[in-house]
Amino acid sequence: MASRQSKKRPEPAQPWSGRFDEPVDELVKRFTASVGFDQLLALHDVRGSLAHARMLAAREILSPSDLAAIERGLKQIEREVSGGKFAWSLDAEDVHLNIERRLVELVGDAGKRLHTARSRNDQVATDVRLWLRGEIDRIAGQLEALQRALLEQAERHAATVMPGFTHLQVAQPVTFGHHLLAYFEMFERDRERLGDCRRRVNRLPLGAAALAGTTFPIDRARVARELDFNEVAANSIDAVSDRDFAIEFAACASLVMMHLSRFAEELVLWMNPRFAFVRLPDRFCTGSSIMPQKKNPDVPELVRGKSARVFGHLMALLALMKGQPLAYNKDNQEDKEPLFDTVDTLRDSLAVFTSLVAGLEARPENMREAALEGFSTATDLADYLVRKGVAFRDAHGVVARAVREAELTGCGLSGLPLAVLKRFSSAIDKDVFQVLTLEGSVAARDHIGGTAPRAVRAAVARGRKRLAIWGEQ
Ligand code: ARG
Repeated sequence: MASRQSKKRPEPAQPWSGRFDEPVDELVKRFTASVGFDQLLALHDVRGSLAHARMLAAREILSPSDLAAIERGLKQIEREVSGGKFAWSLDAEDVHLNIERRLVELVGDAGKRLHTARSRNDQVATDVRLWLRGEIDRIAGQLEALQRALLEQAERHAATVMPGFTHLQVAQPVTFGHHLLAYFEMFERDRERLGDCRRRVNRLPLGAAALAGTTFPIDRARVARELDFNEVAANSIDAVSDRDFAIEFAACASLVMMHLSRFAEELVLWMNPRFAFVRLPDRFCTGSSIMPQKKNPDVPELVRGKSARVFGHLMALLALMKGQPLAYNKDNQEDKEPLFDTVDTLRDSLAVFTSLVAGLEARPENMREAALEGFSTATDLADYLVRKGVAFRDAHGVVARAVREAELTGCGLSGLPLAVLKRFSSAIDKDVFQVLTLEGSVAARDHIGGTAPRAVRAAVARGRKRLAIWGEQ
């Protein structure tokens, strides 16, 4: 057998195929390639490479002239990518190798030196973190916009009374503003969570190289500074292998989607003519191709549906990680599509929902009417009796009997004459009627976290202040 070494071998097709005897199978090439989707990371890849090259030069691992050539080439690539002119090729497998190949085309040997003290393993982890950090900031801004829309509506409807539900049955009157502020709080926590997640996203993997670090005298702190990372990943094996930051983000995103989905569910209910609590602007609704009368809440329904898709991505990422031995495995290439789609879905859902909330038209007369049904002020009557010295458990029984009587008569509690009410408890007097009104009921819950119009207005003011403080940070 002739020695392979003696034959002149052609230039390898892939930067890694020097040791291979045959070119990679076409199907395998397509199967293993990620350039179709990871090209989204291109600008971050360039940015990371620039920082890496500058550090190599500062440490005299790279000559000043090589650095100049690399910078010139990468700037050119940046322009090509931004202008949609970069020629992506499946042959070069992924975003990193595509860019490296183009760099060598543009600047020759200097381009081949860029990969010193680096691996695609620490490179990809860096790119994803850089990208995700920017997306987290945009999403936080979108959450804030949604919160502002909620504050506006809450202020407008601080005194609009609606039935509050438990078990989806009328429970007690609340103000619509208060109900909306419940969502303000949920999105506030979502924003806190994202901010916390960002801290762990914002750590620099570069320097870990393939898994064990590098023999070159690198300066990781310098790269971290240039790329605005607030820390350097402390263990090289961990830095290239774990995607917990992506999972954590998907969990934060899932919680936002879950909150949006609950809100969406309420909008669908409220828009039903049996409720008729709100009108959604026509521009957010669609019709039916067969039923001419229909106006469908497709937007909230789709947001509700899309939450399922984001939860699926969270599960996919968890499952992707759980069986992987340390350190990097190609499995990790599968982290991108779920992560990218999570961001796209969340961002679209937030954008559409914010416009929806801003354009939401409440129908206070219908809300009020619904709150009058179902004896929603029964608890107020019980509290009234307690204030007159009746024990709460006894008061509960008195009110239950009064409710039964009102039901038989076909009226609300305030429709029962005083004489009838007195039959259930002698403690009842004519001052009872003001606690039985919807307005009296909500106004009485005037404390932090309560539903009274005054408390709602104060909560709106606090909410605005909170958003302003976030803005300053
Ligand atoms: N495209 C790869 C990914 O997304 C980049 C890292 C490849 N590293 C490797 N050793 N094959 O994970």
